[in-house]
Amino acid sequence: MSDVGESSEGSGSVAVIGAGTMGAGIAQLCAEAGYRTVLIDTSAETAALGRERVAAFMAEGVRRGKVTESEVARTLAAIETSGDLRDARDAEFVIEAVVENADVKLEVLREVSSLSPTSVIATNTSAVPIATLATGVEYPERFGGLHFFNPPQLMKLVEIVPAIGTSADTTTSLQALVSRIGKKGVVVRDRPGFLVNSLLMPYLNQVVAEFDDGLATAEDLDTAVELGLGHPMGPLKLLDLIGLDVHLHATEAAYRESYDIRFAPPALLRRMVSAGRLGDKARGGFHREEEKI
Ligand SMILES: NC(=O)c1ccc[n+]([C@@H]2O[C@H](COP(=O)([O-])OP(=O)(O)OC[C@H]3O[C@@H](n4cnc5c(N)ncnc54)[C@H](O)[C@@H]3O)[C@@H](O)[C@H]2O)c1
Repeated sequence: MSDVGESSEGSGSVAVIGAGTMGAGIAQLCAEAGYRTVLIDTSAETAALGRERVAAFMAEGVRRGKVTESEVARTLAAIETSGDLRDARDAEFVIEAVVENADVKLEVLREVSSLSPTSVIATNTSAVPIATLATGVEYPERFGGLHFFNPPQLMKLVEIVPAIGTSADTTTSLQALVSRIGKKGVVVRDRPGFLVNSLLMPYLNQVVAEFDDGLATAEDLDTAVELGLGHPMGPLKLLDLIGLDVHLHATEAAYRESYDIRFAPPALLRRMVSAGRLGDKARGGFHREEEKI
């Protein structure tokens, strides 16, 4: 965890819009890096819940000896919460992390960019093209993608995604933000899945198709990838964890964007989602599917 308040830090401000899983984690990172941070949601109450998420995450860190009580207090004190988008006004950076719905995002971006003509505005979308969202901002040259991974507090990578129209200065500013919050940034083109998911989605689709063809059992498929490639988690376990519906939604969006056959969802994936078999969160996934066979 970075020291808050040292000379190069303790300046600058960030408004994070959307106080859910991602927004709360991103706000925590910004506050820890010494940014004055405001976490905004649809109401003061939902925004306050985001701050509670930060408190709960950090309490676990204290329990594990990773952070001290005083660091927790300092971080929480640096996060204001609000139910009013106008509180994003004048922030150096605005990071949009609201629900993954293009219309909602466009509306938020339209409003916030009209209030904050000098802010650098970023979106944490996973699947909406940055170029689409850029149509909602008043100054597209000061707008780009900043794709964090879940949980943002722990995952070290952030994809920085300039769109057509994003200025070089904006990309540089986003790179500086990412490095100040202690992450490794990679600059990626605005293409379906950006970089990590453009590799991950076809891989997961292929594994599901191979499983459906009877290449190996679910357990052996996962074991082979874990032991043969050294991945920490096999692909079917990973799909169960991500949620089959979440992957289906993402890979369908990438397919619609590109008509690239690698993103086309395999039939079994659709069938399992239709049956409500969404993975760990609902009714089991591939490992349970196998028990039936
Ligand atoms: N969860 C992930 O694994 C993950 C990973 C990378 C990127 N993302 C992206 O991050 C974004 C947020 O995802 P999440 O998982 O945190 O979602 P979430 O559902 O946990 O949180 C979304 C928050 O947005 C708020 N919100 C909705 N409409 C709003 C509005 N008009 N103004 C202000 N706040 C509003 C909701 O009240 C909610 O608190 C999405 O674009 C998602 O695709 C998610």
